[in-house]
Parts: sequence; C-alpha cells; structure tokens
Amino acid sequence: MKQYKIALLPGDGIGPEIMKEAVKVLKLVQERNPVAFELNEVPFGAVAYFATGDAFPEATKLACDQADAVLKGTIGLSHEESKKIPVDKQPERGALLPLRKRLNTYANFRPVYLPKELAHFSPLRPEVVGEGIDLMIIRELVGGLYFGQKERGIKNGKRFVNEMLEYDEDQIRQILIVGFETAKKRRKLLHNIHKSNVLLSSVLWNEILEEVAPSYPEVEVRHMLVDAAATALCLNPCQFDVMVMENMFGDILSDQGGGILGSLGLMPSACMGPNRKAYYEPSHGSAPDIAGQGIANPYSMIGSVAMMLDMSFGLTEEAQNLWGAMKSVFAAGFTTPDLKRGGDKLISTAAFGDKVLEALAKSPKPKV
Ligand code: IPM
Ligand code: MG
Repeated sequence: MKQYKIALLPGDGIGPEIMKEAVKVLKLVQERNPVAFELNEVPFGAVAYFATGDAFPEATKLACDQADAVLKGTIGLSHEESKKIPVDKQPERGALLPLRKRLNTYANFRPVYLPKELAHFSPLRPEVVGEGIDLMIIRELVGGLYFGQKERGIKNGKRFVNEMLEYDEDQIRQILIVGFETAKKRRKLLHNIHKSNVLLSSVLWNEILEEVAPSYPEVEVRHMLVDAAATALCLNPCQFDVMVMENMFGDILSDQGGGILGSLGLMPSACMGPNRKAYYEPSHGSAPDIAGQGIANPYSMIGSVAMMLDMSFGLTEEAQNLWGAMKSVFAAGFTTPDLKRGGDKLISTAAFGDKVLEALAKSPKPKV
C-alpha cells in the first residue's frame, strides 16, 4: 500500500467549501485503491493572516515542504476587504507567490477542456465549438513580471513605479521543454505565444525556442502574438492543442480559457516543480461574493484532485474515472448556478460532490 502525505490549504472565500468536496473524493479514492492519504489541513491566505499575522505561516511552509503533494483551494479577499491587510502581506503577494517560489513550480498546466457532452456550456456558437474544446495552456509560473525587481518612489515630484520582467535562458528553456514534451504526448502541435514585436523578453524566448525545437522534430511549432491569440481563442479555439507562454500572458489567456468554456469553475490546474513536487489548485479566485452560500462549482477543485492523482501519484485510471464521474453529473442535467441554462437542474456545491461520489463509486475499480 502506497502512503502519501497531502497538505490541504483551503484558503479564503469559497476555498473551504470546495475543498470539502475534494476531501470527500480523496476518501473514496482511498477506499477504492491501494493507497493511504495522510491529510494535513493548514491555514493559508487571508484566513492565516488574520489568525497569525502571516498569510503563509511557518507551520504551513513546513507542511508543504514535507508533503508529497499540496492541494490548495482559493485565496484572496474582495477589493474593499483587501485594504485591511498591508499590500505586501495580502494573500496573493504574501502567500501564493511565495508558495510558487518555495516549491519552484515553474510549470503550470491549465487544461481548457469541454467535452462534446458539455459543449452547450460554452458561450461560443456550436459551429465554433464543434466536437468540443481540448487544449492545454502551459504557463511559466515563477518568473517574469510577477517576480522581477520592483521599485516605487517619487521622481521629480511625481509618484512612479518600476517593475521588471526578468527571465534568464535556463528559466525559458525549462518551460519550453515542458511545452514540447506535452505536445509530443498529445497532438504534436505547439503554439508558441509571445510578443516579440515589442518585448525583448519575447525575442530571447523565441531564440531559445529555436535552440530547443530541433530536439523535437515530430512537434510542429506555430508562432502567435499574444494579442492575436486572445482573438483566436474566441474565433477558433479548436486550432490549438498545446500553448506555451510566459507568466503574465498565461494568467490572462487562461482566464479567457475559462470564458470560452462558460465558467472559470471549469478550470483546474497543476503547478509542477522539479522532481515532480507539485501543488494543485483551481485557476480561479476565491469568489468572495458567493462564499458561504454553498453554490460554488467544485469542478475545478475536484478536477485539480484528478490531476494530482494522475501526475503526483500515478493513479491515471482513477483520475480518468473521476473526470468521467464529473462529466456524467453535468450530462445528467445538473449544474451549479455559474453554468445554469434553461432546463438545467440546479444543485449545491455539496450535492455536486455527492453526485460525483455516487458516479465514481459505480465506475469499475482500477486494476492493481
Ligand atoms: C492565477 C491567479 C493568481 C495569478 C493571483 C491570485 C495572484 O490569478 O493563478 O491565475 O495571477 O497568478
Ligand atoms: Mg489568474
């Protein structure tokens, strides 16, 4: 029996509600497979700040270091509530970015996936969605503008700010390799998203790409400017399979990915570091406006569990079962309010989780 330690970071807003559903799923997976999960729930985000004065307390750091994988909910407060916390201690800067840096999770996998059965959720016209959307955004996660040097001050009597977009060639190479490797396992098509007509960082990025590409002769590379890619995602998302890009571009285009699916609630993600140490999280925020009402869509949280089962624990078949279970709940006409169309049966966060459990329990157990 394999034993895995998982650090659970429920976080703020809807985080604890959707994490509850993830834990229910993990318990069932444990019953169905020769694995034992040791779950260690620790404070992270604004909730940790208000309890300890630190959004990423030492005990949480330790739990993350010792875990085989980290499962994170959502963090962040409303614009107004955020003002109660000093800027550098707010959960995004004070917890999330330090978590990414600490685990060095440079490769962020954000699947933008809408199978045919769920194609009606997309706001795009049926002829645009065709047989469904299935692409993978690979976002560099520990470099660029997010982590460059920052300076704020007063020059000539005026407030100014200066923040740097920094990358070195090793950082660029390692994420491009992830892009190529992923493309190799999928449709062998890699879209390189950049802005080399303006940004020098993209010029270097593209230079490194030319150096890496010869090792992957089977992968076709197509170059696209990031602004054009934003349009193309709306007009013809099916042309894409794997898209690789730097941190900020990936932040923006992956939210657009949620948009073309119909909800950010359909966006799980995996954040992978060296030696496959990883953390998993929904791509979306903490939705403080709907927190505590039991109406959040837990798909992106449970999908993050599926990615963890596959990528961290090698439980690939069970991960597939879990995706199938979630799909079957939607296909039976149940939805959370974010996805509601006429005729859908509205269910709560917990009811969605229960239905996923029911469907998973019915799927054949993976062979040992
Ligand atoms: C995301 C989020 C984060 C980011 C925020 C919460 C700092 O938007 O994971 O996409 O910008 O990376
Ligand atoms: Mg984002």
